Amino acid sequence: MVLNFAHRGSLTEAPENTLPAFEKALVHRPKGMELDVQMTKDEELVVCHDAKLTRFNKNSKKFIQELTWEEIQQIDIGSSFSEEYKELNLTRLEDVLSITPVEVLLNVEIKNIPVIYPGIEKKLLDCLEKYNRLDNVIISSFDHVALQNICKLHSTLRLGMLLHYRLLDTWKYAQDSGLPIYSIHPNHVYVDQTFVQGCKNAGFGVYPYTVNDWERYKELVDYGVNGVFSNQPEIFGNK
Ligand code: G3P
Ligand code: CA
Repeated sequence: MVLNFAHRGSLTEAPENTLPAFEKALVHRPKGMELDVQMTKDEELVVCHDAKLTRFNKNSKKFIQELTWEEIQQIDIGSSFSEEYKELNLTRLEDVLSITPVEVLLNVEIKNIPVIYPGIEKKLLDCLEKYNRLDNVIISSFDHVALQNICKLHSTLRLGMLLHYRLLDTWKYAQDSGLPIYSIHPNHVYVDQTFVQGCKNAGFGVYPYTVNDWERYKELVDYGVNGVFSNQPEIFGNK
Protein backbone atom coordinates (compact mmCIF):
# COMPACT_ATOMS: atom_id res chain seq x y z
CA MET A 1 0.00 0.00 0.00
CA VAL A 2 1.24 3.49 -0.83
CA LEU A 3 0.72 6.11 1.88
CA ASN A 4 1.21 9.74 0.93
CA PHE A 5 1.49 12.70 3.29
CA ALA A 6 -0.04 16.15 2.81
CA HIS A 7 3.07 18.26 3.31
CA ARG A 8 2.51 21.12 5.81
CA GLY A 9 -1.24 20.62 5.31
CA SER A 10 -2.55 21.86 1.99
CA LEU A 11 -0.11 24.71 1.49
CA THR A 12 -1.46 25.90 -1.84
CA GLU A 13 -4.92 26.46 -0.35
CA ALA A 14 -4.05 28.11 2.97
CA PRO A 15 -0.92 29.33 4.79
CA GLU A 16 1.36 26.33 5.30
CA ASN A 17 1.34 24.49 8.62
CA THR A 18 -1.69 26.42 9.92
CA LEU A 19 -5.00 25.07 11.13
CA PRO A 20 -6.81 26.12 7.91
CA ALA A 21 -4.12 24.31 5.86
CA PHE A 22 -4.76 21.10 7.77
CA GLU A 23 -8.52 21.52 7.54
CA LYS A 24 -8.20 21.99 3.76
CA ALA A 25 -5.92 18.96 3.50
CA LEU A 26 -8.39 16.77 5.38
CA VAL A 27 -11.07 17.55 2.80
CA HIS A 28 -8.93 15.54 0.34
CA ARG A 29 -8.98 12.57 2.71
CA PRO A 30 -5.21 12.02 2.87
CA LYS A 31 -3.83 8.89 4.43
CA GLY A 32 -1.12 10.99 6.08
CA MET A 33 -0.28 14.58 7.02
CA GLU A 34 3.11 16.10 7.75
CA LEU A 35 3.93 19.07 9.97
CA ASP A 36 6.96 20.74 11.56
CA VAL A 37 7.31 21.60 15.24
CA GLN A 38 9.28 24.34 16.96
CA MET A 39 9.08 25.48 20.60
CA THR A 40 8.32 28.90 22.11
CA LYS A 41 10.15 30.56 24.99
CA ASP A 42 7.48 29.26 27.38
CA GLU A 43 7.72 25.76 25.86
CA GLU A 44 4.57 25.70 23.77
CA LEU A 45 4.88 23.41 20.74
CA VAL A 46 3.97 25.35 17.62
CA VAL A 47 3.69 24.21 14.04
CA CYS A 48 6.11 26.04 11.79
CA HIS A 49 8.78 25.19 9.26
CA ASP A 50 11.01 28.18 9.99
CA ALA A 51 12.73 29.14 13.24
CA LYS A 52 11.57 32.76 12.69
CA LEU A 53 8.31 34.14 11.27
CA THR A 54 9.97 36.67 8.95
CA ARG A 55 8.97 34.81 5.78
CA PHE A 56 5.31 35.30 6.76
CA ASN A 57 5.60 38.72 8.42
CA LYS A 58 8.53 40.98 7.58
CA ASN A 59 8.20 42.86 10.88
CA SER A 60 8.73 39.73 12.92
CA LYS A 61 12.48 39.35 13.38
CA LYS A 62 12.85 37.29 16.53
CA PHE A 63 13.28 33.56 16.76
CA ILE A 64 10.23 31.58 17.90
CA GLN A 65 12.46 30.44 20.76
CA GLU A 66 12.63 34.09 21.97
CA LEU A 67 8.84 34.64 21.94
CA THR A 68 6.13 33.48 24.31
CA TRP A 69 2.97 31.84 23.03
CA GLU A 70 1.05 34.97 24.02
CA GLU A 71 3.42 37.17 21.98
CA ILE A 72 3.17 34.82 19.01
CA GLN A 73 -0.60 35.14 19.05
CA GLN A 74 -0.17 38.85 18.23
CA ILE A 75 1.73 38.09 15.00
CA ASP A 76 -0.22 37.95 11.74
CA ILE A 77 1.19 35.20 9.53
CA GLY A 78 -1.80 34.97 7.16
CA SER A 79 -1.83 38.28 5.25
CA SER A 80 1.27 37.39 3.25
CA PHE A 81 -0.71 34.44 1.83
CA SER A 82 -3.96 36.30 1.13
CA GLU A 83 -6.34 38.87 2.57
CA GLU A 84 -8.69 36.02 3.51
CA TYR A 85 -6.21 34.89 6.17
CA LYS A 86 -5.45 38.32 7.61
CA GLU A 87 -4.72 38.12 11.36
CA LEU A 88 -4.22 34.36 11.25
CA ASN A 89 -1.69 33.23 13.87
CA LEU A 90 0.60 30.29 14.24
CA THR A 91 -1.07 27.03 15.22
CA ARG A 92 -0.18 24.92 18.24
CA LEU A 93 0.56 21.23 17.75
CA GLU A 94 -2.35 20.37 20.02
CA ASP A 95 -4.76 22.28 17.79
CA VAL A 96 -3.79 20.05 14.86
CA LEU A 97 -3.96 16.91 16.98
CA SER A 98 -7.47 17.79 18.08
CA ILE A 99 -8.82 17.96 14.50
CA THR A 100 -6.91 15.06 12.93
CA PRO A 101 -8.88 11.80 12.71
CA VAL A 102 -7.02 8.98 14.39
CA GLU A 103 -6.81 6.98 11.14
CA VAL A 104 -4.74 9.72 9.47
CA LEU A 105 -1.07 8.98 10.05
CA LEU A 106 0.72 12.08 11.32
CA ASN A 107 4.37 12.74 10.60
CA VAL A 108 5.68 15.18 13.17
CA GLU A 109 9.05 16.61 12.19
CA ILE A 110 11.18 18.04 14.99
CA LYS A 111 12.93 21.07 13.52
CA ASN A 112 16.51 21.75 14.41
CA ILE A 113 18.80 23.97 12.31
CA PRO A 114 19.54 26.73 13.28
CA VAL A 115 17.86 26.27 16.66
CA ILE A 116 18.16 23.20 18.84
CA TYR A 117 15.41 23.05 21.47
CA PRO A 118 16.52 21.33 24.67
CA GLY A 119 13.66 19.26 26.05
CA ILE A 120 11.46 19.36 22.94
CA GLU A 121 11.38 15.57 22.72
CA LYS A 122 9.74 15.14 26.16
CA LYS A 123 7.26 17.94 25.45
CA LEU A 124 6.34 16.29 22.17
CA LEU A 125 5.80 12.86 23.67
CA ASP A 126 3.64 14.31 26.47
CA CYS A 127 1.52 16.14 23.91
CA LEU A 128 1.12 13.06 21.69
CA GLU A 129 0.18 10.96 24.68
CA LYS A 130 -2.42 13.50 25.80
CA TYR A 131 -4.08 13.21 22.39
CA ASN A 132 -3.72 9.44 22.22
CA ARG A 133 -1.43 9.72 19.20
CA LEU A 134 1.52 7.56 20.11
CA ASP A 135 0.26 4.62 18.04
CA ASN A 136 -0.35 6.52 14.83
CA VAL A 137 2.57 8.86 14.41
CA ILE A 138 5.99 8.95 12.80
CA ILE A 139 8.44 11.29 14.49
CA SER A 140 11.09 12.44 12.04
CA SER A 141 14.03 14.80 12.06
CA PHE A 142 17.17 15.77 10.20
CA ASP A 143 18.62 15.89 13.71
CA HIS A 144 19.33 12.25 14.45
CA VAL A 145 20.30 13.10 18.02
CA ALA A 146 16.71 14.26 18.52
CA LEU A 147 15.58 10.84 17.25
CA GLN A 148 17.94 9.22 19.72
CA ASN A 149 16.48 11.36 22.51
CA ILE A 150 12.98 10.26 21.53
CA CYS A 151 14.10 6.63 21.57
CA LYS A 152 15.56 6.98 25.07
CA LEU A 153 12.19 8.26 26.28
CA HIS A 154 10.02 5.82 24.34
CA SER A 155 11.69 2.92 22.61
CA THR A 156 8.83 1.66 20.42
CA LEU A 157 7.77 4.77 18.54
CA ARG A 158 8.11 4.93 14.78
CA LEU A 159 11.14 7.04 13.87
CA GLY A 160 11.72 8.62 10.46
CA MET A 161 15.31 9.44 9.53
CA LEU A 162 15.35 12.53 7.33
CA LEU A 163 18.28 12.97 4.97
CA HIS A 164 18.75 16.01 2.79
CA TYR A 165 22.01 14.90 1.19
CA ARG A 166 23.01 11.65 -0.44
CA LEU A 167 25.12 9.36 1.72
CA LEU A 168 27.16 6.30 0.89
CA ASP A 169 24.94 3.28 1.61
CA THR A 170 22.28 5.19 3.52
CA TRP A 171 20.74 2.00 4.90
CA LYS A 172 24.06 1.07 6.54
CA TYR A 173 24.18 4.48 8.21
CA ALA A 174 20.66 3.90 9.51
CA GLN A 175 21.54 0.40 10.73
CA ASP A 176 24.78 1.59 12.35
CA SER A 177 22.91 4.34 14.20
CA GLY A 178 21.56 1.64 16.49
CA LEU A 179 18.20 3.39 16.46
CA PRO A 180 14.98 1.51 15.73
CA ILE A 181 14.43 3.45 12.52
CA TYR A 182 11.06 2.74 10.94
CA SER A 183 11.54 4.66 7.71
CA ILE A 184 14.05 6.71 5.76
CA HIS A 185 12.85 10.07 4.42
CA PRO A 186 15.26 11.17 1.67
CA ASN A 187 15.18 14.16 -0.61
CA HIS A 188 13.54 12.60 -3.66
CA VAL A 189 16.09 13.99 -6.15
CA TYR A 190 18.64 11.23 -5.53
CA VAL A 191 16.24 8.35 -4.97
CA ASP A 192 16.66 5.54 -7.48
CA GLN A 193 16.00 1.80 -7.65
CA THR A 194 19.27 0.92 -5.88
CA PHE A 195 18.51 3.32 -3.05
CA VAL A 196 15.00 1.99 -2.50
CA GLN A 197 16.07 -1.65 -2.72
CA GLY A 198 18.97 -1.12 -0.31
CA CYS A 199 16.71 0.54 2.25
CA LYS A 200 13.91 -1.98 1.88
CA ASN A 201 16.22 -4.99 2.03
CA ALA A 202 17.52 -3.58 5.30
CA GLY A 203 13.94 -3.40 6.58
CA PHE A 204 13.28 0.33 6.31
CA GLY A 205 10.32 2.07 4.75
CA VAL A 206 11.11 4.81 2.22
CA TYR A 207 9.17 8.10 2.09
CA PRO A 208 10.82 10.67 -0.20
CA TYR A 209 10.06 14.40 -0.05
CA THR A 210 8.76 16.58 -1.72
CA VAL A 211 7.08 15.13 -4.81
CA ASN A 212 4.63 17.20 -6.85
CA ASP A 213 5.18 15.81 -10.31
CA TRP A 214 3.00 12.92 -11.41
CA GLU A 215 5.62 11.27 -13.68
CA ARG A 216 8.24 11.38 -10.95
CA TYR A 217 5.69 10.03 -8.49
CA LYS A 218 4.95 7.02 -10.71
CA GLU A 219 8.68 6.37 -11.12
CA LEU A 220 9.19 6.38 -7.35
CA VAL A 221 6.22 4.07 -6.81
CA ASP A 222 7.70 1.70 -9.41
CA TYR A 223 10.95 1.69 -7.43
CA GLY A 224 8.90 0.56 -4.44
CA VAL A 225 8.70 3.60 -2.17
CA ASN A 226 6.12 3.35 0.61
CA GLY A 227 4.77 6.83 -0.08
CA VAL A 228 5.81 10.43 -0.60
CA PHE A 229 5.38 13.87 0.93
CA SER A 230 3.52 16.13 -1.47
CA ASN A 231 2.30 19.72 -1.55
CA GLN A 232 -0.70 18.55 -3.54
CA PRO A 233 -2.93 16.39 -1.35
CA GLU A 234 -5.72 16.97 -3.87
CA ILE A 235 -3.74 14.79 -6.33
CA PHE A 236 -1.65 12.47 -4.15
CA GLY A 237 -3.56 12.54 -0.85
CA ASN A 238 -5.53 9.32 -0.82
CA LYS A 239 -3.71 7.49 -3.60
O1 G3P B 1 9.45 15.68 6.17
C1 G3P B 1 9.68 15.90 4.83
C2 G3P B 1 10.05 17.33 4.54
O2 G3P B 1 9.10 18.15 5.15
C3 G3P B 1 11.41 17.70 5.01
O3 G3P B 1 11.85 18.94 4.55
O4 G3P B 1 12.35 21.34 4.73
O5 G3P B 1 10.08 20.60 3.98
O6 G3P B 1 10.76 20.32 6.34
P1 G3P B 1 11.22 20.36 4.91
CA1 CA C 1 8.93 19.18 7.22
